[in-house]
Amino acid sequence: MSADIDSGPCAVGRGRAGGPTVTRSSAEETAALRRAVLRPNLSIHEMAMAGDQNPDTAYLAVRAPGGDRAVLGCVRLEPVSCPWPEALQAPARAAWQLRAMATDPAVRGSGLGRLLVESAMEHVSQRGGDLIWCNARVGAEQFYFRLGFRPVTAPFQMPDVAEDHVGMVRRVLQSERPGEAQRTGSGQG
Ligand SMILES: CC(C)(COP(=O)(O)OP(=O)(O)OC[C@H]1O[C@@H](n2cnc3c(N)ncnc32)[C@H](O)[C@@H]1OP(=O)(O)O)[C@@H](O)C(=O)NCCC(=O)NCCS
Repeated sequence: MSADIDSGPCAVGRGRAGGPTVTRSSAEETAALRRAVLRPNLSIHEMAMAGDQNPDTAYLAVRAPGGDRAVLGCVRLEPVSCPWPEALQAPARAAWQLRAMATDPAVRGSGLGRLLVESAMEHVSQRGGDLIWCNARVGAEQFYFRLGFRPVTAPFQMPDVAEDHVGMVRRVLQSERPGEAQRTGSGQG
């Protein structure tokens, strides 16, 4: 299954017609979900991030089918150097940071998080990126691990977030397509 996330909505949902769709979105459209899931201590007006104005920064969203097209999940991608180059087995030529990964609690466990990360990998692959890295909340470390990311740091704290984080990286292959995350096991730096 391939999700062409630049050409507008695409049928995803594991091939089911009328399933959820992945589209390019925006900081504004994803702010409510990001705030509710990730930063409830902030106001909606504080959800903008440095780098949002970078034309290469991309928000991807999964929306509910049907009428309201509510944002059920989102992820943010921005080309940013990997902060742990010493942990990589080979240098990263073009690294991207994955942030703002969130799904609505009502739909967790149904594959939308995986769909978003696979779409993120395709987005980065299509733009010549060869590495995705993230500051993963420890509660989400196994989620990322299942998707091919590997931890490269000890747990550390981030400002204004109680939960510890761990640095994780995943190689992106130019030939990579959604659905290959578990099979490739290419997360080692
Ligand atoms: C982490 C999160 C995005 C996962 O979203 P989701 O929609 O439940 O993910 P999926 O249903 O696609 O799950 C994908 C796989 O990861 C597994 N998984 C999901 N969350 C997991 C967790 N917290 N721990 C272990 N495994 C997890 C699922 O079982 C599934 O495994 P499988 O495909 O091998 O069966 C979601 O739980 C969330 O928004 N959490 C709160 C915010 C957060 O911590 N975001 C990450 C910030 S760094």
